[in-house]
Amino acid sequence: MTGGAGYIGSHTVRALHEAGVPVVVVDSLELGRADAVGPVDLVVGDIADGAVIRQVCEDYQVGAVVHFAAYKNVGESMTDPGKYLRNNLTGTINLLEALTAAGVDEIVFSSSCSVYGTPAIVPVDETAAIAPESVYAQTKATMETLLDWYCRTKGVRSVSLRYFNAAGASADAVIGEDWTYSMNLVPVAIRSLLIGEPAELTVFGDDYPTPDGTCVRDYIHVDDLAAAHLRALSYLAAGGVTTAVNVGTGTGSSVREVLAAIEAVAGRPVPHRIGPRREGDPVSTFADPRRARELLGWEATRDLAEVVGSAYRWHLAQVNEPE
Ligand code: WQD
Repeated sequence: MTGGAGYIGSHTVRALHEAGVPVVVVDSLELGRADAVGPVDLVVGDIADGAVIRQVCEDYQVGAVVHFAAYKNVGESMTDPGKYLRNNLTGTINLLEALTAAGVDEIVFSSSCSVYGTPAIVPVDETAAIAPESVYAQTKATMETLLDWYCRTKGVRSVSLRYFNAAGASADAVIGEDWTYSMNLVPVAIRSLLIGEPAELTVFGDDYPTPDGTCVRDYIHVDDLAAAHLRALSYLAAGGVTTAVNVGTGTGSSVREVLAAIEAVAGRPVPHRIGPRREGDPVSTFADPRRARELLGWEATRDLAEVVGSAYRWHLAQVNEPE
């Protein structure tokens, strides 16, 4: 697994390990934490280093790869496109070259609903137009295209999982999202409530054409997301053909609904101010989850209350952790 020391990666490592699947993680630790990978082996290295990848494939008899390693800050990708194109695209090309040289031909790829940009129709299914609106989203769409070509030229079969809004933490609050790096709504809102620093939450616009004026997204629990990766690996092991699959709950929730869910679990309101709309925000996007159910036998099992409840308990534990 590449990037297994990150947020979604660490939850997927744990799910694979608990399912008895042998895992080795390759992670540069640039954004991840070594202790996040738990009891599995960690090789600290860059996925662009073909020698490292080939050596790991040989040493561990790698049969399949889950590829998480990438930069994912949408805003940063628009101010530093080169950083994202080099790391996400060149890194993936080098990885694919090393994997094909090592005879590894099954890949589960961490893609994103952001490849759709602002969808014309919601819920979004996999036939929707690919129209990325950020360099980050473009790198995800391009990586999917690279995988299609490696399928056609080298027989590498892959499942690109198009995540909707990943959030939440493990039920036992042992692993979760690091709010240091994240700019996403759930960790930023909980940080605003728990410590109020570096600033209170700004809601990016409440004048949208939605029931309560705030944007709608599909918040999927990170452990439901992790389970989808196990199903994708099984699908490929059973000979499944290359495909892309939306991974979302199929339910849209507004920013205000998320804030109300956090208030319900915390017992007090989320301190916030209303600010201007954020450039590039789709008004509403949430998944049509049919293909995941039909092809992978997967569907989300946790609702918004469990997403924000698990996130709140994780961040509260982090804040209360002795220094
Ligand atoms: C959610 C909503 C904001 C922060 C994310 C990932 C993207 C992809 C899809 C994986 C929006 C509002 C947010 C804040 C706010 N996932 N918001 N104040 O933009 O939907 O995309 O999920 O690849 O990579 O970034 O997530 O959490 O930034 O925004 O009002 O401080 O919350 O306007 O409506 P987004 P987000």
